[in-house]
Amino acid sequence: MTTARRTDVEVCPSILSADFTQLGAQVRAVEEAGARRLQIDVMDGSFVPNITMGAGIVEAVRGVTGILIEAHLMIVRPELHIPAFAKAGADLIIVHQEAAVHLHRAVQQIKGLGKHAGVALNPATPLVMVEEILEYVDLVLIMTVNPGFGGQDFITSMLPKIRRLRGMLDERNLSCEIEVDGGIHAATAPLVVEAGARVLVAGSAVYSKQHSVADAMAALRAGYGG
Ligand code: DX5
Repeated sequence: MTTARRTDVEVCPSILSADFTQLGAQVRAVEEAGARRLQIDVMDGSFVPNITMGAGIVEAVRGVTGILIEAHLMIVRPELHIPAFAKAGADLIIVHQEAAVHLHRAVQQIKGLGKHAGVALNPATPLVMVEEILEYVDLVLIMTVNPGFGGQDFITSMLPKIRRLRGMLDERNLSCEIEVDGGIHAATAPLVVEAGARVLVAGSAVYSKQHSVADAMAALRAGYGG
């Protein structure tokens, strides 16, 4: 008896681990492998101990793909930079609760620019910090590693946090997506899906020298029955 493939879960490749000498081809590869979205990790060296990419990369990626682009802003004072990422072509802009002093205003700012809004939580930040904003956002991102680098180990104690968020959203009949990010690969994917996550950001599990992007995406999907 064959079990139905899960179609309510998405893999969202993070280009942080991509080969930047051929970014266009790396973006097309995940699109050809069936990705319906991808994530761009924006780091400012202040909110997180790493510096990565800005709106210019979002614009470049926008020029080679039509799939949904998430801009994950791991930056201080995101409200100063949200317009640039909207203009560059991001479809979904994610700010960190720990960085957005006026989170409700930042979410309204993103929505006011015609974009989808997401809020991210670092591993140590409790769910209660987003309770008041859940009805306004399209996505909650539970970091399953401390943000700043790819290739880190999954923090298992995030599983009950994901499960509690799932319960909160179901109880309030809210449709916002639960996304997870960090240490997601074929072994951890089924755990987060079982806990209630539906969008799985994956960097080093998708982009690596050991396997093709297509094989990597297939292995991730096989992990959760997709
Ligand atoms: C880390 C980033 C992640 C990172 C994930 O701060 O937000 O998106 O690229 O990389 P992996 O999947 O390798 O943990």
